[in-house]
Amino acid sequence: MNNKCYQLAPDLTISRILNGMWQVAGGHGIIDRELALADMLRYHNSGFTSWDMADIYGPAEDFMGEFRRGLLTLKGKEETERVQSLTKWVPQTGRITRSAVNENIERSLRRMNIDALDLLQFHWWDYNNPYYMDALKYLSDLRDKGIIKNIGLTNFDTERIQIMMDSGLKIISNQVQYSIIDRRPEVKMLPFCKENNISLLAYGSICGGLISEHYLERKEPSTTELDTLSLRKYKKMIDAWGGWNLFQELLSTLKIIGQKHKVSIANIATSYILGKSAVAGVIIGVRLGIVDHRNDNAQVFHFNLEKSDRDDIDSVCTKANDLFQIIGDCGDEYR
Ligand SMILES: NC(=O)c1ccc[n+]([C@@H]2O[C@H](COP(=O)([O-])OP(=O)(O)OC[C@H]3O[C@@H](n4cnc5c(N)ncnc54)[C@H](OP(=O)(O)O)[C@@H]3O)[C@@H](O)[C@H]2O)c1
Repeated sequence: MNNKCYQLAPDLTISRILNGMWQVAGGHGIIDRELALADMLRYHNSGFTSWDMADIYGPAEDFMGEFRRGLLTLKGKEETERVQSLTKWVPQTGRITRSAVNENIERSLRRMNIDALDLLQFHWWDYNNPYYMDALKYLSDLRDKGIIKNIGLTNFDTERIQIMMDSGLKIISNQVQYSIIDRRPEVKMLPFCKENNISLLAYGSICGGLISEHYLERKEPSTTELDTLSLRKYKKMIDAWGGWNLFQELLSTLKIIGQKHKVSIANIATSYILGKSAVAGVIIGVRLGIVDHRNDNAQVFHFNLEKSDRDDIDSVCTKANDLFQIIGDCGDEYR
């Protein structure tokens, strides 16, 4: 997979591995601001220039603002233009007014020290509350004014995006959980996105780090042994998918494929999802200032999975439960 970048929109090209900033929001170890900012520069200098944030990810948007200020001083305006700042707006469910939308977007712009958002991904907790369509209408008006460059979604299901398409809303992406374990997007979302020219941004593709050598041939960890919120979240997903023994079979299969290509298990899992149609990028969580997997993740762009590799992975997955049956479509785990 040699293509490191993806053109998500005419004015937005992203790195196909994006840096996920949920990890600075708590529950993933103590994040030191200075160390985090220094790490952001290292990621940027290595070509990982796309950042996934949210208004609710603790200091993530503030870090972006400080990072951009530092970059401006250090390398000038042109360099700041190489950064892609993707954020989310995650409002409480309720009536949405135009002024609430404007205020929230202005706050994100201020925090991130930016004139226009590259991509605003909208989340909504409760479909029974129809104000999400109002919110999208107001967000679209901000896009038409150039304050938001592009509008995306996160964790929306196929049925609701169809409603948006029918209403003429212009949506470029949906950010969803998508991994070898959680293949729910393949049932309805992927074909729909292909047909409607919408890209997917995948998260959870290495299950918080569980899909790695570190957990190969390890006995099943208890919840207390898993020391990040992310690990706990995806361990539950593995339990629902088929349990620890089947997961070990998957890890062994990924290891064999990894040895053949001389890359890590995480690389195989990432490449597998990046190779799916409609997938623009995989967001990998970064614990800034704590652990750095940059060099390993960069290897994703130096090999190609073969059809037989994909078949071997798929063959293990035929033994798993169908998470679409158990959980539902994309985002239903939040509702
Ligand atoms: N829209 C949503 O609802 C939503 C939900 C979840 C996440 N997200 C987005 O997706 C991002 C990713 O978060 P996630 O929770 O899904 O986590 P993830 O990307 O599946 O896992 C991240 C963790 O994997 C480990 N890791 C990374 N590269 C590795 C490698 N090459 N080898 C071994 N381990 C590696 C690291 O663990 P260690 O640090 O422990 O080494 C890292 O903290 C978030 O930051 C956020 O931006 C969005």
